[in-house]
Amino acid sequence: MRKHGSERGLTRRGLLRAALAVGSTAGLSACMEITGGLDVPTGPSDLSTYPASQHAWNDALVTDSHGNTVAPHYQLLLFLEYKGSIPPTEAERAAVESCLASVDRAFQRGTGGSPDALSLNGLLGLIGYTPDYFARFDRSFTTEVDLSTPEQVLKAVGEDESKADHYDAVALLTSDRVEVLLAAEQAMRGNRDQLNGVPVSSSLTDVFAIAARRTGFKGPGLVSSRLSDEVDIDAVNEQSPSAMGYKSGFSDNQASEKRVTIKTGPFAGGTTLHVSELVLDLEAWYNRSEGGRVHRMFSPQHSPESVGEVGRFLANDSRINETIAQSTEADAEQYGVVGHTQKVARARDSNFEPRILRRSEAISAETGRAALNFTSIQRAMTDFVETRQAMSFVDTDADSDHTTPQCPAHQQSTSNGCPAKNGILQFVETEHRANFLVPQRQRRALPEPQ
Ligand code: HEM
Repeated sequence: MRKHGSERGLTRRGLLRAALAVGSTAGLSACMEITGGLDVPTGPSDLSTYPASQHAWNDALVTDSHGNTVAPHYQLLLFLEYKGSIPPTEAERAAVESCLASVDRAFQRGTGGSPDALSLNGLLGLIGYTPDYFARFDRSFTTEVDLSTPEQVLKAVGEDESKADHYDAVALLTSDRVEVLLAAEQAMRGNRDQLNGVPVSSSLTDVFAIAARRTGFKGPGLVSSRLSDEVDIDAVNEQSPSAMGYKSGFSDNQASEKRVTIKTGPFAGGTTLHVSELVLDLEAWYNRSEGGRVHRMFSPQHSPESVGEVGRFLANDSRINETIAQSTEADAEQYGVVGHTQKVARARDSNFEPRILRRSEAISAETGRAALNFTSIQRAMTDFVETRQAMSFVDTDADSDHTTPQCPAHQQSTSNGCPAKNGILQFVETEHRANFLVPQRQRRALPEPQ
């Protein structure tokens, strides 16, 4: 049974979380009362020093003592429907750019670039556009970007095509400060004429309707307490930054920003973004032994002793090497269990470099179930699809064509030689998928398809 606020005691942190989930000006006011206002440095008035790529965040993220970038604690996704003209007028484009520039000027970019920062007090965000948005134009979308539809991704990984989202755009905002996200959202909704002392003269809602919003959180303490309060899952270790018990996003198995940046064509400097909502069956996950969880998350060669509590002994890599990745099929046969990480590492490129950069994997409880708001950026959607296929399937026939997957998701039996314990698949159910082009900063306002 859900715990009521009075029973669990509404802590300052609890109120902040509630404010983010609710949104609205009332949520922001409550939040400002708790935090005493927006005590955050502004960004520069001249934005020309900002990176050309909207997705270049690494220099403004917190870095841990092992050199891994740390995803911000809070995440807000605003899904947008375009209401303006096609092609967009200069005035419509100017309204979008001016709103985004005001938000940039209002808050420092992430940590403000300080390498020793322990907290991300400013804002990191980006805006991306879907194939649906580009399909509104007479001209077709450039062939120089590999941007597939969500249906194509769903089909390629053997999932139901009805899970595809059909918005026009998304604004992804992240910060360690809830009030920063809420204030930026209110400016984007046209409810503020100044933000942290910076004038705001236009809003996203001048040309978009905000069709949906999702929020998420990540970090030790935050995930365990909120999942306990809101979905009655008490098994998450307090030290764990995420719901399934291990830290994630090691510098050695994240793609570099260069690797995910589009090189040529009208969107050179941009990237593609995949956003999914994945419902997690945490009860079933925590019913497994710790050893079983480690094998399924990493590989049967990993043990609770080598991984440590919440992955503490893994410094800046998950100790997945080519040998462990290549032994996936043999491990399936020998042990009947394969790890999530060893499977997806098979999709690395010919230099064994990862192809996707997992940007913010925040947990949500707002639908009454634990879910993961997964966001990854990659140069081409194929990079995501092939990585996701590697997560779903174990090719049990070494001679077979790798385009013919052998073991489907949620396979529970060992038929065809598929492992009964197929990574974390059994505990993850896709609810939504969407794909976006994230243009370079210069073209972020209502881009043309060519
Ligand atoms: C659903 C919940 C998920 C959880 C709890 C999870 C957790 C993890 C963990 C603990 C690792 C090892 C540490 C790290 O490198 O970050 C990892 C690695 C990884 N995961 Fe996930 N993951 C999830 C979903 C996904 C999805 C949907 C994808 C997309 C295909 C994905 C792609 C990857 C990749 C590419 C790696 C690095 C593999 C390499 O070494 O090359 N994960 N994940």
